[in-house]
Amino acid sequence: MKVEVLSSFLLLLSGARSFQYAELAQYVDAQQERYVESLRDWVSIESDSSNVQRRGDLHRMMETAAQKLRLMGGTVELVDIGEQELPDGTTLALPKVVTAQFGSDPVKRTVCVYGHVDVQPAKLADGWATDPYNLTDINGNLYGRGASDNKAPVLAWIHAVEAYQALSLDLPVNVKFVIEGMEETGSNGLDALILAQRDTFFSDVDYIIISDCGWLSRRPALTYGTRGNCYFFAEVEGPKQDLHSGVYGGTVIEPMTDLVGILDTLISPSGKILVPGIREAVAPLSDEEWKMYQDVQFDMENYKNKTGVNQLMYNNKVDLLAHMWRYPTVSIHGIEGAFSDAGTKTVIPAKVTAKFSIRQVPSMEPALVKKQVTDYLHSVFAKRKSPNKLKVTMVIGAKPWLADTQHPLYEAGKAAVKRVFDMDPDLIREGGTIPIARTFQDVTGKSIIMMPIGGFDDGLHSQNEKMSRYNYIEGTKYFIAYLHEVSQIKTSSV
Ligand SMILES: *[C@@H]1O[C@H](CO)[C@@H](O)[C@H](O)[C@H]1NC(C)=O
Ligand SMILES: *[C@@H]1O[C@H](CO)[C@@H](O)[C@H](O)[C@H]1NC(C)=O
Ligand SMILES: [Zn+2]
Repeated sequence: MKVEVLSSFLLLLSGARSFQYAELAQYVDAQQERYVESLRDWVSIESDSSNVQRRGDLHRMMETAAQKLRLMGGTVELVDIGEQELPDGTTLALPKVVTAQFGSDPVKRTVCVYGHVDVQPAKLADGWATDPYNLTDINGNLYGRGASDNKAPVLAWIHAVEAYQALSLDLPVNVKFVIEGMEETGSNGLDALILAQRDTFFSDVDYIIISDCGWLSRRPALTYGTRGNCYFFAEVEGPKQDLHSGVYGGTVIEPMTDLVGILDTLISPSGKILVPGIREAVAPLSDEEWKMYQDVQFDMENYKNKTGVNQLMYNNKVDLLAHMWRYPTVSIHGIEGAFSDAGTKTVIPAKVTAKFSIRQVPSMEPALVKKQVTDYLHSVFAKRKSPNKLKVTMVIGAKPWLADTQHPLYEAGKAAVKRVFDMDPDLIREGGTIPIARTFQDVTGKSIIMMPIGGFDDGLHSQNEKMSRYNYIEGTKYFIAYLHEVSQIKTSSV
């Protein structure tokens, strides 16, 4: 009895010593203005990766991030990932990737935080209420391009490490960072870096953490899946040049008519994908998933309001979320070569190219989807007995990603949410594509967790992007708590 009491007392003591959450959280609260100033500095750099005129700013952004990590005593490298080729044939240096390491204790676990500090374009003239590169606080919301995507989340992770240092507390896990500057344009050069450093930088990493995107509501969320994207071009070519419909209309078989006809066979008005084999490949919705979706905080009326439609494809929450996250869909994006200016033009375009994509889910292989779509469109086209020529190509084949929500990484995430927000997180998926998650998984073989801290209404990629002080500051505490929770994962359960 005595021994038990003593040992539980010792356990209590060591537990208390190993995680002083209250002190850390208090420290974070006291640093709030300094954290906002850091975000202001970062947002003021127009690190738009899509604009070659801004490449100097992007290099400066990478250097700024590296310098912040160096000043904290991290082992920091700016890794050269080469050049990109521009459409005019010239080349331009890619922004270096920042890698950093805090701690290398072999007894501890090692997590690697991935983030990006490049941004989407933004101009005041696009309809911003404030200068997008001058962080502006309105009612506790910090408006600025890149505030939520992805500068504040990256800073929150850096500040989480810094808080342990400031209080002279041992980091519960070794922490590494991989911060890139080309995410918004497709992570040019990053795949090669991950592959090249698989057996060096990544070799002792246990888990990879991505904090991009956002929550679905005011409730914190853990993200466990993303859809992939297979993007197609379907080109129909007929006459050797554009023709006048008054002169030639009725005498030739028009490419546009053929194209619209075959596009209409991709998906039914009620959202059923008609390409054979695609629906069959999708795993049926399990009872557990149904229950999880049912528990997610999501307001259909708000969603209608946000999208500005008065009727959605499905009338209940579970069906709608399932089709947003875990079923594939077809979207038709545009037709190149079609007349699209204002006014009237009586043209018969000689060659038209449709652009459409299929957001695909984990049980679907891009290579197979490519074959299914190509074969199907050719068979549908053949029935038209048209003399025109059809060419189908798949130009993007980005894979989906899916994690196990029962994995200890997710259990640690739930515990951290519980500690900081005193509630259970929504377990959500992303309808969009984050190809780097799948690359990390395939190349390094490590488990990945997505822990967003962005708000549901942050306006990523859009006008008036913002990050709330609440999400930024509580998010920092959440990351602090997560580093502790991850250190508690038992070796046997990995
Ligand atoms: C940012 O906005 C504030 C408030 O409008 C203004 O005082 C400040 O001069 C601006 N800073 C820059 C760099 O434009
Ligand atoms: C829809 O949004 C507008 C503002 O964007 C708001 O005024 C209105 O109350 C909202 N309606 C519903 C039903 O949520
Ligand atoms: Zn992002």
